[in-house]
Amino acid sequence: MTDLPKTYHVKSFGCQMNVYDGERMAELLGAQGMTATADASAADLVVLNTCHIREKAADRAYSDVGRLRRDDGSKPLIALAGCVAQAEGEEAKRRSKMIDMVVGPQAYHRLPEMVAAAASGQRPVDTDMPAISKFDALPARRRTGPSAFLTVQEGCDKFCTYCVVPYTRGAEISRPASDIIAEAEALAISGAREITLLGQNVNAWSDGSSGLDTLIRRIARISGVERIRYMTSHPTDMTEALITAHGEVPELMPYLHLPVQAGSDRILKAMNRSHTAASYVSIIEQARRARADIAISGDFIVGFPGETEEDFEATLSIIDKVRYAAAYSFKYSPRPGTPAASMPDQVPPQVMDERLQRLQARLAVHSLAFNQATVGKATRILIDRKGRLPGQMIGKTPWLQSVFVETSAAIGEMVDVVTTAALPNSLAGVLATAKAA
Ligand code: SAH
Ligand code: SF4
Ligand code: F3S
Repeated sequence: MTDLPKTYHVKSFGCQMNVYDGERMAELLGAQGMTATADASAADLVVLNTCHIREKAADRAYSDVGRLRRDDGSKPLIALAGCVAQAEGEEAKRRSKMIDMVVGPQAYHRLPEMVAAAASGQRPVDTDMPAISKFDALPARRRTGPSAFLTVQEGCDKFCTYCVVPYTRGAEISRPASDIIAEAEALAISGAREITLLGQNVNAWSDGSSGLDTLIRRIARISGVERIRYMTSHPTDMTEALITAHGEVPELMPYLHLPVQAGSDRILKAMNRSHTAASYVSIIEQARRARADIAISGDFIVGFPGETEEDFEATLSIIDKVRYAAAYSFKYSPRPGTPAASMPDQVPPQVMDERLQRLQARLAVHSLAFNQATVGKATRILIDRKGRLPGQMIGKTPWLQSVFVETSAAIGEMVDVVTTAALPNSLAGVLATAKAA
């Protein structure tokens, strides 16, 4: 038996959707009268919102749990949340005695009851994926940052052979348009100027008759919303209507995160990706026809089982064709229960290391070239944080580049800048005019 917690700390790992879920859990605990603490070790309740995507991410969850033991031997109440919680369920309690409750990504609206049960000495586990949406049970949004995430679609039916997401997040569901619009309005009122629509396959969002493009056009009409982004998209769900919207909706940023994973059709087939290298490249070409300055980013996996040097070179060649502005790249990590984990010809770790290095070197050439091409040009940035130097602020361009600039503008303001130098991961700039509103 412990007292009900008065303070909480939520720590999120993994993708943007986990960040979003972490914010919603914090809002939920806040609505129960608990206050947030910045320091996890001082909180009465710590929620670890975990990621299961690769082995390292999943292992980290347990080492983080262990680190919550305080010097005097005491510990906070610990909730294991997120995708490791979903994947491991009851097993998580056996792996660590310190875990007081286990709550999956579709059940976290029940956190208050679970916390009460845990405080009275039980160790509740809830990994249900109820038909009633958790969103209906959550309190209204209360965030104030200039850039906000908004989950519109969850789950995945694609079953790529390497991936745990269909198991940890469940089947594809789309939230109703009216709920999404209401949430976007609430975010705009509380200060968001940029909204990033999230989904494991966000471009599969549908209300039965219309798709993500329609939703984007509706959100663009909300007063205060100046920028709209969406991620992550799947090539197979990339509709012509969505591509067209890039050329027609000024609020929709010229940016498309479209993972390809690999450039070899043989590997794409073994991955169950349901697209080819050529069909992928043709989507990129269409997007560039709709919006010439669109920046493309992607995800890559090296060392999928059976990947030969020739297959790997096909990935390098797609990188040269697409000229990515940015990318995430990973070594293949076998995940329990996925088909790829038991495929023959697993690639040795040294080969994966070497390929990842070559891949990242190639990606860096293109991202630096992309940044250099913007030097000397005028652009508008949304200030989202302070820089390290006095008077320095950092803001994002429409292409998600971070620009360092000296300005008296505050976080949340948009300013016009001219970029002066390109670094591998950011740009330097100067104000183009006097402070714009
Ligand atoms: N729904 C998105 C991304 C989901 S996971 C999509 O389909 O693209 C984010 C990225 O993690 C994936 O794009 C993939 O590049 C990587 N990833 C997923 N499973 C992985 C695994 N088992 N090993 C290494 N990387 C993986
Ligand atoms: Fe995973 Fe593939 Fe679904 Fe993306 S599309 S979440 S990689 S199964
Ligand atoms: Fe990780 Fe789950 Fe996101 S596995 S990447 S937190 S959907």
